[in-house]
Amino acid sequence: MRILHIGDIVGKPGRQFVNQCLASVKEYEKLDFVIANAENASGGSGLTPQIFRELIAAGVDCVTLGDHIYRRREIISMLEADEPIVKPANYPASAPGKSWAVVNAENGTPVAVFSLLGRVFMKPVDCPWTAAECVLNEIPAEVKIRWLDFHAEATSDMQLMGRYLDGRVTAVLGTHTHVSTADEQILPQGTAFQCDIGMTGPHDGILGRRVDRVLETTLSFRPTHFEVASGDVQLHGTIVDVCQETGQATAIRRLVVTQDQLRQGVYQPASKDVAAP
Ligand SMILES: [Fe+2]
Ligand SMILES: [Fe+2]
Repeated sequence: MRILHIGDIVGKPGRQFVNQCLASVKEYEKLDFVIANAENASGGSGLTPQIFRELIAAGVDCVTLGDHIYRRREIISMLEADEPIVKPANYPASAPGKSWAVVNAENGTPVAVFSLLGRVFMKPVDCPWTAAECVLNEIPAEVKIRWLDFHAEATSDMQLMGRYLDGRVTAVLGTHTHVSTADEQILPQGTAFQCDIGMTGPHDGILGRRVDRVLETTLSFRPTHFEVASGDVQLHGTIVDVCQETGQATAIRRLVVTQDQLRQGVYQPASKDVAAP
């Protein structure tokens, strides 16, 4: 089966683009399951219950978040309800939300989804390696597809998590930097890996925010509102082919959808399939 993970959806431009293209991308790419990181979906930071429902209606099966998880506190009720949305598993037990969720794909195959936060240039959190062990112990043994969104800054941490979990999870895909990396690969024991799957939103900006605002604050230290940018909206994500019996990844490739591609209804793969070694 085939799973798409969409990189951090930023603001209204990102949400609208997902709404416009996900149904056709699903059909074109024959996708069975879609995961999306939505930590920036509301005004560039956080997520509201309404936007969560819109993403599910657009075809997203499970939502992951990151360091901006509680920026809109309304989302806490969703995180605590039986909904396909998870908190970072290395947040304290008292932090609202589930550490993992199992969601059935259209073909009935269960998919376990969890996320972890890195500890470099991020707010202090519990050990991601220990949290990964806890989650893997808790997920029922019959659930073979186990999917990790590692929300982290350091590529070295990303690579280490990939190697640490190689053969024990289907995918270790990075989010948070908003910049896709060209290192998609299947690790030796069958885990799909990529340091960062990129961002869905305005690429004519700084991580999805207006260049002039970020520049003004950076140069003058004068606070400005980092408004969401508007130009060159693109969907960035990564597609993984998975053996549903073993949960192992068999191929991975990057997906980029531009506004031109959406208008023409023709999607060119951003990279070739990288198959298992
Ligand atoms: Fe983000
Ligand atoms: Fe983040």
